[in-house]
Amino acid sequence: MNANNEMLLQGKRILLIIGGGIAAYKSLDLIRRLRERGAAVRVVMTRAAQEFITPLSAGAIAGGQTYVDLFDSRTEFDLGHIRLARDTDLIVMAPATADLMAKMAGGHADDLASTVLLATDKPVLIAPAMNPSMWSHPATQRNLAQLVADGVAVVGPNTGEMAEQGEAGTGRMAEPLEIVAAVEIRLAAQHETAGLLLGRRVLVTAGPTHEPIDPVRYIANRSSGKQGFAIARAATAAGASVILVSGPVALIDPPGVTVIRVESAREMLAEVERALPVDVAIFAGAVADWRVAEPGAHKLKKGASGAPKLALVENPDILSTVAHSKSKRPRLVIGFAAETEHVIENARAKLDRKGCDWIVANDVSPSTGIMGGDRNSVHLITHEGVESWPDAAKQNVADMLVARIVAALAAAAK
Ligand code: CTP
Repeated sequence: MNANNEMLLQGKRILLIIGGGIAAYKSLDLIRRLRERGAAVRVVMTRAAQEFITPLSAGAIAGGQTYVDLFDSRTEFDLGHIRLARDTDLIVMAPATADLMAKMAGGHADDLASTVLLATDKPVLIAPAMNPSMWSHPATQRNLAQLVADGVAVVGPNTGEMAEQGEAGTGRMAEPLEIVAAVEIRLAAQHETAGLLLGRRVLVTAGPTHEPIDPVRYIANRSSGKQGFAIARAATAAGASVILVSGPVALIDPPGVTVIRVESAREMLAEVERALPVDVAIFAGAVADWRVAEPGAHKLKKGASGAPKLALVENPDILSTVAHSKSKRPRLVIGFAAETEHVIENARAKLDRKGCDWIVANDVSPSTGIMGGDRNSVHLITHEGVESWPDAAKQNVADMLVARIVAALAAAAK
């Protein structure tokens, strides 16, 4: 199980088309990553792909047969290419070779993969992978522009070493987890809030902060950043332009989000202030309340004088600073309250003290598994009252919160 492993794709159907390139081996891992998030994966392989991996290995990992032939009477009878193209929520082509991109851009249909791509009425996401010279060739760039104009989503390619010795540049296929993140965003775009935050700027803080003790040690907390990242994804899927200011976390950047990584509370405040003005600000960051007054310039050493005495000073309260801003207060300021007792009373007091519009309160006692976990159980506290939401995946909590934000902004505009 990895850090991002929520069942975000539960019940989703994905048709994976594997093209013929050395990156095809990564597609086996992609199948596994998609399935562990709850997706059902069907696989189509081109003839060239079978030079790199076998239909048997892809089928074994996908838990079903791999489709390879347009004119296979058995599979055509069982599940024709038209159904293959349509009985899915998303088609992912990874690796997308220069040839497959050209075929798709030109509307060719001379094998199962290209026929499915032409016959589908479902969204398509491609992860190009090829030699850097092929990628930068005007023909490929022309095909790419055509595919984007046709509504195809693209993830990668990345820059780095290529499989061929001595070759480097742009052309490496995106990593499986990056493709998974792009799949999540593409599917979320079909969500009910899709496009409803178009033209809005949303700021999100996430993760812990690290407060240095000396060059090698720091004070921190157990926040994983998952809830804040999920909110950034949900707001992006709703069409907002999202800035995510995150402390140190082991999560990959959600596609389409401007991610700014910081270490300390003071750095987080500086980046948050730089991001203003925004329409909505959501403070999911678990900011350290205190920092060491005078961090050591060198590593503190053990010595005869015993354990060091660390003097702490209070960090700026980022949420409160923004909520009380005279000129740049966002229309909607939302805080989180991490509590281990008297959750609702403490959160209500925070709502008033910090000057925010809503507080999302959760019980972060170790027994709840919320800190660092994939689920959350929250109460939404507003000036009107308290709503207790059912226990849900952090992404679902994020989607619900964004749906509420959409409704609040719409009501304010009336
Ligand atoms: N917060 C912030 N800057 C801080 C401390 C907290 O922006 N220096 C924000 C958090 O992002 C969260 C809210 O304030 O949205 C409440 O954070 P929490 O840790 O629950 O509250 P504290 O203010 O730290 O209060 P306490 O530790 O006394 O519970």
